[in-house]
Amino acid sequence: MTEKLVVRARGPLRGTVRVSGATKNAGLKQMAAALLAPGCTVLRNVTPVADLDVMLDVLRAIGAGVEWTGPDELTIDARPDLHPEAPYEHVTRLRASINVLGPLLARCGEARVAMPGGDNIGSRKLDMHFRGLQAMGAELEVVHGFIEARCNALCGARVVLEFPSVGATENLLTAAVLAKGATIIENAAREPEITDLAAFLNRMGAHVAGAGTSTIEVEGVEELTPVASTLMGDRIEAGTFLMACGIAGGEIAIEGTELAHLEMVVVKLGEMGLKVSRTPDGLWARADDRLQAIDVATLPYPGFATDFMPLVVALLATAEGTAIVTENVFDSRFSFVDELNRMGADVRNEGRHAVVRGVPRLSGAPVRALDVRAGAALVLAGLAADGETEVLDPYHVDRGYPDLAGRLCSLGADVERASLE
Ligand code: EPU
Repeated sequence: MTEKLVVRARGPLRGTVRVSGATKNAGLKQMAAALLAPGCTVLRNVTPVADLDVMLDVLRAIGAGVEWTGPDELTIDARPDLHPEAPYEHVTRLRASINVLGPLLARCGEARVAMPGGDNIGSRKLDMHFRGLQAMGAELEVVHGFIEARCNALCGARVVLEFPSVGATENLLTAAVLAKGATIIENAAREPEITDLAAFLNRMGAHVAGAGTSTIEVEGVEELTPVASTLMGDRIEAGTFLMACGIAGGEIAIEGTELAHLEMVVVKLGEMGLKVSRTPDGLWARADDRLQAIDVATLPYPGFATDFMPLVVALLATAEGTAIVTENVFDSRFSFVDELNRMGADVRNEGRHAVVRGVPRLSGAPVRALDVRAGAALVLAGLAADGETEVLDPYHVDRGYPDLAGRLCSLGADVERASLE
């Protein structure tokens, strides 16, 4: 709360940047899944983002040992005597804490997890998590703000998700791996982070097939064994650098990511005029001219990810022409547009839609980060703004990006962390 990010436009970006491991959107889930296998699991390519610290607190509260055993290596000891309870003070700081529900039920036969509230991007219900676990034989109720779940033994079931929820798919998958018999998750989320989680579980001895498609099939096994595993690169961070190049101009290389994970973003940015191609270890991008406006609608993977929506709105704010942006995944992810408009953007939001009329240049102003991607979007907007942009509450950005300022500076940008006087 005592810091800010100060951004000054310094012209086109140049250079090479390496993406971090996908700690927030893949790592936290694999940390929770490590509870399934008694003993020491080693996760590599883990970067210390703020949300990770909260998950470490959750795991400690549950009785697991957690320790950094290398600069990017975390060892989780899922001891025999776990205490299957995730307290409110942690869950309220990190929604992904809900990911311990499936593993605790599967391993301990019971779980008590504080019910997370809504947050800045929408109401974020858990009904699909609950219905899926109930279909597998769990009894669940919400008592005094806690989800209390228990089961004699989880049994495989066929679960059809109403919407391809990432969190529900993960919780059901991590419960099903130790259930008796076969589980089929239909309309499963197809995000690369799900595929990474399934590969991790299979390394531990699970039998998961179909991850990355809409039908995931799991044959339950008796037990899982701890392994050492390396996290996938962070596709959202990679996409953020692509967008930074789009808004500031220039030519950059991004290492440690895969074009396949960013296909729709690359298609849309290509239509806007950003040139992107594959390199042996990632991507290359170049922006020569002012980008052109295009319409964007977010969808579950492989559609245009909702996490890129605030970033693309920042790009469209300085593009040539008018665009309509539609948010189909979360119900209130547009609150940041008022902050962007303080910088001279012309964005009007009504419900799930925003009309963005591009202006040639933004003007630096003090603005507030409201969530992780909205905060990153304001930093990017600062790259195309006259004068100084101060992004307040940068701790939101730190929740998902290890050092966004430093990484952008390595590409020639001028983004500085300063204390609030
Ligand atoms: N939903 C329900 N019922 C449920 C579950 C979800 O109605 O039981 C609704 C939600 O309210 C929401 C939609 O389904 O409107 C999508 O939610 P989903 O469960 O897919 O999202 P999540 O698992 O809560 C993860 C990421 C988000 C990312 C979304 C969508 C993590 C820690 N979070 O959230 O990441 O936007 O998937 O891809 O992995 C971010 O990185 O900034 C971020 C918010």
